[in-house]
Amino acid sequence: MKLWSKRLIFAVAAMTVAWLTGIGFAMSGTSPNVPVTQPSDVQAPAHASGQVVVPGTAVPIAAAAAYQQAAGRAAQTPAPAGRAGQAGGGTAAPARGTTPPVSRVPAGQQASDQVFKNIQVLKGIPVDEFMGTMGVFTTSLSLCCGNCHTGAGTSNPKWEDDPPRKKTARAMITMVNNINRQNFQGRQVVTCWTCHRGQLSPSVTTPLDFAYGDAVIVPPDLLPRATSGGPTLDQVFSNYIQAVGGQANVDKLTSYVAHGKSLLFGEVGAGNPAEIYAKNDGHVTTIVHQQEGDVVRAFDGMTGWWQIPLTVTPQYQLNSTLADGARFDAIMAFPWKIRSFFTNWRVSYPQSIEGQDMDVVQGNLPPRPGEATGMIGTLYFDSKTHLLRRYIRYANTMVGRIPTQVDYSDYKPVNGVQLPFKYSYAWVSERDDWTFDKYDVNVPIEAAKFGKPDIKTAGDVTGRKPQ
Ligand code: HEC
Ligand code: HEC
Repeated sequence: MKLWSKRLIFAVAAMTVAWLTGIGFAMSGTSPNVPVTQPSDVQAPAHASGQVVVPGTAVPIAAAAAYQQAAGRAAQTPAPAGRAGQAGGGTAAPARGTTPPVSRVPAGQQASDQVFKNIQVLKGIPVDEFMGTMGVFTTSLSLCCGNCHTGAGTSNPKWEDDPPRKKTARAMITMVNNINRQNFQGRQVVTCWTCHRGQLSPSVTTPLDFAYGDAVIVPPDLLPRATSGGPTLDQVFSNYIQAVGGQANVDKLTSYVAHGKSLLFGEVGAGNPAEIYAKNDGHVTTIVHQQEGDVVRAFDGMTGWWQIPLTVTPQYQLNSTLADGARFDAIMAFPWKIRSFFTNWRVSYPQSIEGQDMDVVQGNLPPRPGEATGMIGTLYFDSKTHLLRRYIRYANTMVGRIPTQVDYSDYKPVNGVQLPFKYSYAWVSERDDWTFDKYDVNVPIEAAKFGKPDIKTAGDVTGRKPQ
């Protein structure tokens, strides 16, 4: 039952960002011609009545249709250009008609198969992407590390051992890559999530409640541009800057240290002391002082590092699209500066979070060599208050994208700027909920705070491998 209650929470969370394409259908009284072609990662059950209804909000019927068209398959997941090791096993056959494989591990950094002992499929990738794939597994199948790895969560983990489920997972990676290569020109349209959706054994038969009940449409990662209605990009950003305190006030905020507590998801208790250090030239570091050691995410304007105590790699540098994500996070510490991050912003169709309508804007970076899409970032602004409610950014792995989601609430003015006093940070391996007591603004912060974390703060790292 525990698993089910967890799944339910997940479904509800997913629903809050669900595409709300339907009420317009119901109200229009006509039977719309819903195109059969769906973007790969959108569920759109065919309703007998032709209605796709999700409670809460309405997206005009024209928007729904435009969304269906705009979110065509090719736009969602292009084929990678000569990506190394995309196939399972050492087979690494590049996608048809592509250039020779490109190494995605920067010079001087070690690849997954150099760092770990028993890598047969996920070879030649940066360590941060490798650990991200493990997170994609856990979220796609609702598993813990220990469900595939002998002794994970104990003081004596044997990560390199091959228990049966881990072997199955390895075979699945190869299977998924073959499906994509043989059927979809190497585009990553099938991922672990495509089939598993949080279950060990993917469901086989459509439940009729699903077919005839309320639809939950999960938006695609790459959102289409809205073709009518809604605010313009200029309006979204200028409304936001106005709401947050005005350009003059935000320009005066050059740095801050936010002090508070962070509660690890699922944990009971008062939480751990936590801080955010941020400078408005692209530097940010978040630190949670856990009993076992400090959890640190640091970005010094050029390079990002993660430190996670008790893990097999207690520290590592970010070298994949997660590194672009760290740069994005650093600018998002001063969100009014984010506009120059992307050159291809688009305003998409409205979505709803916890019943509130959101204006949604998205951009993405050009792909890194050998990849199909660059890092994607999506911002959700409350349509009424115009404050930033959420952002989600996506990084690539060989088995699917890693979402990182930051939610803001409880805004209060600090030096004339509305700053969030609640902040939640979630990605595939962790979610932490922060409550801030105070912001110290425009204070000097020593450069070292943003650099590679001091390994001494990572707790006991005996037998582990800082990268
Ligand atoms: C669904 C099963 C599954 C889950 C869940 C899973 N892993 Fe893995 N893990 C694998 C597979 C498969 C490999 C081997 C990949 C290969 O051969 O290329 C692996 C390899 C590893 C390795 C490399 C071990 C070595 O030295 O060879 C580490 C470290 C690791 N996983 C950590 C984790 C962590 C941490 C978690 C939880 C966040 C996790 N894994 C969750 C399947 C899983
Ligand atoms: C095309 C659909 C599909 C995709 C994509 C897929 N799987 Fe599976 N997977 C299945 C099915 C079906 C089963 C159950 C097979 C059975 O019952 O014998 C399964 C079973 C498994 C199991 C064994 C579960 C258990 O009961 O112990 C693991 C582990 C697993 N998959 C991991 C993965 C991983 C990791 C990925 C992504 C790399 C993935 N799967 C992608 C269809 C899929």
